[in-house]
Amino acid sequence: MLGPVILAASRSDRMRRLVSAAPVTKPVVDRFIPGESVDQIVPIIQDLTDKGLELTMDVVGEDITTPEQAAAARDAYLELIARLAELDLGTRAEMSVKLSMFGQALEGGHELALANVRPVVEAAAAIGTTVTLDAEDHTTLDSMFAIHDELRKDFPETGCVIQAYLFRTEADARRLAANGSRVRLVKGAYKEPAEVAYQQKPEIDKAYVRVLRTLMEGDGYPMIGSHDPRLISIAQELARRAGRKPDEYEFQMLYGIRGDEHLRLAAEGHRMRVYTAYGTDWYGYFMRRLAEKPANLRFFARSMMTR
Ligand code: FDA
Repeated sequence: MLGPVILAASRSDRMRRLVSAAPVTKPVVDRFIPGESVDQIVPIIQDLTDKGLELTMDVVGEDITTPEQAAAARDAYLELIARLAELDLGTRAEMSVKLSMFGQALEGGHELALANVRPVVEAAAAIGTTVTLDAEDHTTLDSMFAIHDELRKDFPETGCVIQAYLFRTEADARRLAANGSRVRLVKGAYKEPAEVAYQQKPEIDKAYVRVLRTLMEGDGYPMIGSHDPRLISIAQELARRAGRKPDEYEFQMLYGIRGDEHLRLAAEGHRMRVYTAYGTDWYGYFMRRLAEKPANLRFFARSMMTR
């Protein structure tokens, strides 16, 4: 029951100030968000790619309130891409972006987010890599999919995320699988009402498998975003049945979660991409990681009390 409470707190400015200012927060945050600047993240990128892992990079920040902040978010990605160009990693390091950070929730937000994300997608393509649009809460998704369709006219490799907990996702998956899209499937990390989303883990897991089957049997490129060992072995089996070779799908996990499993899957010859977040505005991302596993919260609370 803790998960929904933490997700509600992730929207509270008061909690944001409290958690961000607590001196014990930083070491717990570092587990999931291993840097605040490009200079701090470049050695991590080098270390992970040296180990045979691939990356998708997220510059954290989502609750922006002005067009200037949205432009700054775009520029932060452009700065990162300029550094990735020096490392010459190609598709081994791609980008994940949240359109809210590019202004999607502001007035005229759909157009603003498209205008801000396009130069990022162009810059990524210029260094031989690509961008995936993260999925946020369900109210943002029609706009996200429309932006995805628009970007794919010029950059067909642009990916998007779908969330197994939403009722709409099976239909979205059928459409995306038929049009050859790169699609990351995740369970879903936001607090969603019962009118639009499954609420119980068994239902969400079953939906995940149904959607994954659609993606594996379709024409696109499935990206399995999960740490769940059961779903990972089901994904391997579905890929085998669909006749997919190891370079025709990939696994993705978050930095700081089941790191041994990242290395194990890569060593077995799978493409394994680590979603690596960095930046200063980490509150929303961090709180979603706490909500996913109450043990994280207990660890966090214990470190607060022992100080
Ligand atoms: P589940 O939550 O059942 O966890 C399985 C096991 O993994 C747990 O038992 C535990 O061992 C471990 N684990 C999972 N989360 C943990 C945590 N926070 N701390 C410690 N251990 C943990 N969501 C979204 O709504 N939009 C998006 O765009 C994305 N993008 C995204 C990218 C990638 C690469 C991943 C892996 C995930 C996302 N997510 C996301 C998050 C996703 O929706 C989901 O909340 C998490 O992946 C947790 O779900 P699992 O599938 O891992 O299963």
